[in-house]
Amino acid sequence: MSETKKMNIQTVRQTAREKLKGFCRVCPECNGKACVGEVPGMGGMGTGTSFKNNVEALAAYRINLRTLHGVKKPNTQIKLFGQELKTPIFGAPITGNNFNMGGALNEEEWAEAMIQGCLTSGAMGSTGDAPDPAMYKAGLGVVAKAQGLGIPFMKPRELPEVFDYLRLAEEAGVLAVGMDVDAAGLVSIPVSPKTKEDLKTIIDNTSLPFIIKGIMTVEEAEIAVEVGAAAIVVSNHGGRVLDYTPGTAEVLPEIAAAVDGRIPVIVDGGVRTGVDVLKMLALGADAVMIGRPLIIAGYGGGAEGVALAIRRMTNELKQAMVLTGCQTLEDIDMDVFF
Ligand SMILES: Cc1cc2nc3c(=O)[nH]c(=O)nc-3n(C[C@H](O)[C@H](O)[C@H](O)COP(=O)(O)O)c2cc1C
Repeated sequence: MSETKKMNIQTVRQTAREKLKGFCRVCPECNGKACVGEVPGMGGMGTGTSFKNNVEALAAYRINLRTLHGVKKPNTQIKLFGQELKTPIFGAPITGNNFNMGGALNEEEWAEAMIQGCLTSGAMGSTGDAPDPAMYKAGLGVVAKAQGLGIPFMKPRELPEVFDYLRLAEEAGVLAVGMDVDAAGLVSIPVSPKTKEDLKTIIDNTSLPFIIKGIMTVEEAEIAVEVGAAAIVVSNHGGRVLDYTPGTAEVLPEIAAAVDGRIPVIVDGGVRTGVDVLKMLALGADAVMIGRPLIIAGYGGGAEGVALAIRRMTNELKQAMVLTGCQTLEDIDMDVFF
């Protein structure tokens, strides 16, 4: 109890530094520089350029102050997948606790921290998939226990396996299901790129909203809309699958413009603060996903740590909305930029 009371961002980071020792340095700025090439691990692939580009692309945007207006209590609510959320922040799908984060938490403990931390802070969490199917199932079990309030993401496995994974998600009663199509190059697991026809077959064969994660071009966003995806996640997988891709903030504006509100656009990669959330929304996203900062929060403080991190980012977003004159999330547009 006294331990709970004392939890704050500093204690969370200190605990995370101990629990993630050898896997994540919990740097003052999480920018991919110290962990170059650490995949498996927490870093970016190869030279780490894709991870670093995510952070640098966001940092390059300047926003300007506007304080002569009536916005005092901005509203960060959003309705997505039929769910009222207090904040446009999603927890990103993360797995591989033993080989990526050192295993101080097992898959179930990690998923519990992520899903419950998101729910108590009014956000929505996700779970991921890794070579061992037990990892997808562990996440799914945690989401099922949370009345289905979470989004499991599966790898782009071969179709028969995809159907099995969809059935499991349907039985668990989840809000929506997704696929990180950008993981098509993994060698440790039978995965492959998906054609438009594959995606149509998948989407036609599930009753669940289906989210495609890992879209980086306008052409593929158009395909996602055409096949009936419920949303896309503009993502380069946190820079972990292909070296030298652009940062997501670089490709987001043209993708969001092309999608033009037909389906929600979520984005991830390098989002670290509420100001970063504001920037992504101004560039056209409806919501963001957060990866590494929530790993640090979850390892450092479990569900409470995750909730603390999301509340903090949401408060920063509110502050940034006051200082840029945005009452609602829809008011956040390119006008906030300098
Ligand atoms: C350790 C680690 C494990 C991940 N596991 C998955 C996964 O299982 N499925 C998935 O779709 N993405 C996975 N990702 C990618 C994240 O969902 C997300 O796209 C990325 O972390 C966002 O960038 P950020 O960490 O800079 O916020 C993982 C990322 C990390 C760092």
